[in-house]
Amino acid sequence: MLEIEHVTKRFGGLLAINDLSLTVKKNQLLGVIGPNGAGKTTLLNVITGYFRPSQGKITFEGERIDGKAPYEICRLGIARTFQVVQPFPEMSVLDNAMTGALFSREGITIRKARDRAMEALEMVDIAHQADVMAGALTLGAKKKLELARALATQPRLLLLDEVMAGSPQSDIDDLMKLLQRIHAKGVTILMIEHLVHVIIALAQHVFVLNFGQELFQGNPGDVISHPEVIESYLGKPLEALAAES
Ligand SMILES: Nc1ncnc2c1ncn2[C@@H]1O[C@H](COP(=O)(O)OP(=O)(O)OP(=O)(O)O)[C@@H](O)[C@H]1O
Ligand SMILES: [Mg+2]
Repeated sequence: MLEIEHVTKRFGGLLAINDLSLTVKKNQLLGVIGPNGAGKTTLLNVITGYFRPSQGKITFEGERIDGKAPYEICRLGIARTFQVVQPFPEMSVLDNAMTGALFSREGITIRKARDRAMEALEMVDIAHQADVMAGALTLGAKKKLELARALATQPRLLLLDEVMAGSPQSDIDDLMKLLQRIHAKGVTILMIEHLVHVIIALAQHVFVLNFGQELFQGNPGDVISHPEVIESYLGKPLEALAAES
């Protein structure tokens, strides 16, 4: 579905993404992990047109998308959330979610956009806060709003940048179930997450990024027993990491 081929993203002398190739298959739930600064967010930024890759090629459902503008890529069916939440703080929760719906289709009516936005807010369980100013939400609720705004675009590929980190455990359990529901509806998901136990529980395939390059990829069981992954990233056994979070 998404094909990233030999993509490099340079910031001056820094190679944030270094000759990276990665395939996301249709209906996959792919987890991406890696240490701080590995290039995970930059990867989402080049997929979504926020940055143009310095080199390489990205195709979505057979169509070349590197070089396209973010709104064009969104209209093709790719939505994302932001690691540092980006609500419009002076707008209501409903209006925030509506921006996703309005942005995603040319000529969509306000009524239709409102319906899609409400549906998305219901899915993430913040519909009861529809009239609240987004700036007044807790961080956990702002993370859910990020997800709702992305869902309101009705994506076929959903890119998640740490939607769970910083949320209380009760929200994490809810969000895990929600992502499984979204995935079961046929949405392909690429999720970046620091909470390794969440990735292990949800993902079918895990890609480990380190210094902008692939360190390893495989099924969750192979990843957590891979010596280099443990050394460079996990640092300690998974049980210890799960106990911390
Ligand atoms: N706009 C930018 N300008 C310059 N350097 C950047 C920019 N964005 C990212 N970088 C650098 O690129 C590297 C990769 O950053 P990125 O944010 O992609 O890492 P990450 O894997 O998402 O890290 P984290 O786990 O902390 O979110 C880092 O060294 C970062 O400082
Ligand atoms: Mg990041």
